[in-house]
Amino acid sequence: MDLYEFQAKELFAKHGVPTQAGEVVRSPKHAQEAAERIGGLVVVKAQVKTGGRGKAGGVKLAATPQEAHDRAQDILGLDIKGHIVHQVLINPAADIAEEYYVSFLLDRAHRTFLAMASKEGGMEIEQLAVERPEALAKVAIDAIVGVDQAKAEEIADAAGFDASVRDQVVEILKKLWDVFIKEDATLVEVNPLVKTPEGLVVALDGKVSLDENAEFRHPDFESLVDDTATDPLELKAREKDLNYVKLSGSVGVIGNGAGLVMSTLDVVAYAGEEFGGQKPANFLDIGGGASAQVMADGLEIILGDAEVKAVFVNVFGGITACDAVANGIVQAVQMLADKGEPVTKPLVVRLDGNNADLGRQILTDAGNPLVQLVDTMDDAARRVAQLAAQGA
Ligand SMILES: Nc1ncnc2c1ncn2[C@@H]1O[C@H](COP(=O)(O)OP(=O)(O)OP(=O)(O)O)[C@@H](O)[C@H]1O
Ligand SMILES: [Mg+2]
Repeated sequence: MDLYEFQAKELFAKHGVPTQAGEVVRSPKHAQEAAERIGGLVVVKAQVKTGGRGKAGGVKLAATPQEAHDRAQDILGLDIKGHIVHQVLINPAADIAEEYYVSFLLDRAHRTFLAMASKEGGMEIEQLAVERPEALAKVAIDAIVGVDQAKAEEIADAAGFDASVRDQVVEILKKLWDVFIKEDATLVEVNPLVKTPEGLVVALDGKVSLDENAEFRHPDFESLVDDTATDPLELKAREKDLNYVKLSGSVGVIGNGAGLVMSTLDVVAYAGEEFGGQKPANFLDIGGGASAQVMADGLEIILGDAEVKAVFVNVFGGITACDAVANGIVQAVQMLADKGEPVTKPLVVRLDGNNADLGRQILTDAGNPLVQLVDTMDDAARRVAQLAAQGA
């Protein structure tokens, strides 16, 4: 889970990393009031979960509360790489003598953690990494030892920080490592970490990604979740504990097992080429023990997507045999009808594996004209793509 800058900085403050307190607002009027409270020169910063905000016009200085109002008006509603700005952070403007870069991340390729640091931080860091990689120090971190005093010094010295800031940077690195470990992050990045003219080192920006697998250790993670940017169908699916990802096509897909669903997406996209480029509308894995309720929940979510024209239910019966899945489909269709949301779009069902014949028999006996049985995955994909094309 990626955090907004203001949330990242709250975590920094919690762990003693020097940063700036600010206010997050959603309207120009509130920006003006926040600027009044903060006083003096402020900076208005777009809060979106993507990089390059400064270059996109999402970070602006304001000398007066009225200017803060106007800059917030400019920035709110901006589209930064597909992310619409709904909130801005008002921070006191810092005098900047130098800009640095530091980060900790999970280095999957080397199966360890990695520190990166540079004396030349700021908005051109990506360019720096490409053009002068030697100016960006990379230091591997032993997962067991972590970042102790010696490691923090090694990182600071690898980046060649000046003696005047070295001790501060070392302290900050140790505290950022605390953020990384104690908050179960997979990324902690500060760009820029600045030196003020008084010689103080402060984190002016922050990027943190938290590991959702560690959620059970952090009851407070929940308060960091921001659903305004999440697709409403995905939200609904999450409430029902379904593994659902919204895509942009016309063929709803339900399967059991992530691998089968992934290959179903491929097969549907391939078959869809023949029918005007029909594509899968979603990923949905209903897992092993797919009950009628889970099937009904899944169908409800998928049929709630107006773009869906036909649904492909692709099940390989294993521990949960095909007859159970077939009964699940029949009951799910009934449950939706009882709820006043009858299924009106065609369902193409392919059952294979344990008790496939029995499962097919159950569906045939149910005799719902919207439910079509197709024996193989490829044929079913072609059929559903064709139906989606007709429905479109
Ligand atoms: N509080 C501040 N006072 C003065 N200048 C600031 C302040 N915050 C940011 N800046 C300036 O704006 C630049 C861009 O800000 P910031 O790093 O937060 O966003 P960004 O790097 O453009 O976005 P991202 O990190 O998402 O790519 C900084 O490099 C810094 O020069
Ligand atoms: Mg930045």
